[in-house]
Amino acid sequence: RQRVFSGVQPTGALHLGNYLGAIRQWVTHQDLFENWFCVVDLHAITVPHDAQRLAEDTMNTAAMYLACGIDPRRCKIFVQSHVPAHAEMAWLLNCLTPMSWLEKMTQFKDKRAKLEDAQSIYVGLFTYPVLMAADILLYRAERVPVGEDQRQHLELARDVARSFNHLYGKRIKRQRQPPVFREPEALAWDESSGVARVMSLTDGTSKMSKSAASDMSRINLLDDADTVRSKIKRCKTDAGRELVFDDPDRPECTNLLNVYRALTGSRPKAEIEDVLRQSGGWAAFKPLLAEAIVTELAPIQRRYREVLADRGELQRILRDGAEAAAEIANETLRRARGAMGFMERV
Ligand code: TYM
Repeated sequence: RQRVFSGVQPTGALHLGNYLGAIRQWVTHQDLFENWFCVVDLHAITVPHDAQRLAEDTMNTAAMYLACGIDPRRCKIFVQSHVPAHAEMAWLLNCLTPMSWLEKMTQFKDKRAKLEDAQSIYVGLFTYPVLMAADILLYRAERVPVGEDQRQHLELARDVARSFNHLYGKRIKRQRQPPVFREPEALAWDESSGVARVMSLTDGTSKMSKSAASDMSRINLLDDADTVRSKIKRCKTDAGRELVFDDPDRPECTNLLNVYRALTGSRPKAEIEDVLRQSGGWAAFKPLLAEAIVTELAPIQRRYREVLADRGELQRILRDGAEAAAEIANETLRRARGAMGFMERV
């Protein structure tokens, strides 16, 4: 079975973009693959963070994985910093990744532009995609289900893998062993179970994000029904009356329809447009959308509370996950160190 690796940063509440862009696909396909899902806390400290909250946010994010339907019997869940090989591998890869590659990363450029104080633009933020490459490559993962915004980082992971195998793979090849790294597939994106890019509720041209200033711009997975209804009621619409997918001049319309479609069984777009044409415009559509979201979130929120009520069990799952992860990660790290020519531990 092919191996899947993915992760989410524990930086505050998860939102509908994280869910429809990533986690829902993990859940839908968990039977098909061997699954490794990580809470990437080392990534969360690449921007100024609240040390009082990190541990709690990490637990909560892991709880959210389970609440969304990840089954710990079929998937391993663990915390990135509990497997030190991630940090060590990232260092090794830092030493073969050209700076020019990282300078091209749009997420870095965006985040740097948002950080007003130059003192808080850390080296770690710059080299963040290398840590992400380490995450993926340590497990020799073939598939990495992420939203569209992570695509460039995934390409970088492929480039880093190729570059490493090329630079340091000769001896390994001569010994007829498999290359140290496997190049992950560019993007395993599946239209039937999510939305590659969920946009902000207040601006259809920017993505829904945890860091956007206004909470009205996103649906958090823990928002209660009334909050969801009021956010949808007040979210940005346009003057066009017909509700149609994929009109480039109507990003808000496309976004809300995409979310609605993903939450209601992914029927053909034309079919949804037909039904909505008969019911008439935004005023009729918004309540339908709000109810679709509320219906999806209700069981997740119930399970979330259940999971957090039994912290011992959650900790056990994370301990087991980290142990199993370390076994694979340490082996890849050992091979990478050997290929790079490090002296063996004596
Ligand atoms: P993060 O924590 O920003 O987001 C987690 C996942 O949610 C997806 N996502 C979205 N998808 C659609 N629409 C949106 N508006 C939206 N916002 C977020 C992201 O694409 C992601 O899949 N660097 C990663 C975490 C990471 C990782 C990894 C992922 C670290 N190492 C290794 C995969 C493999 C990140 O910051 O995701």
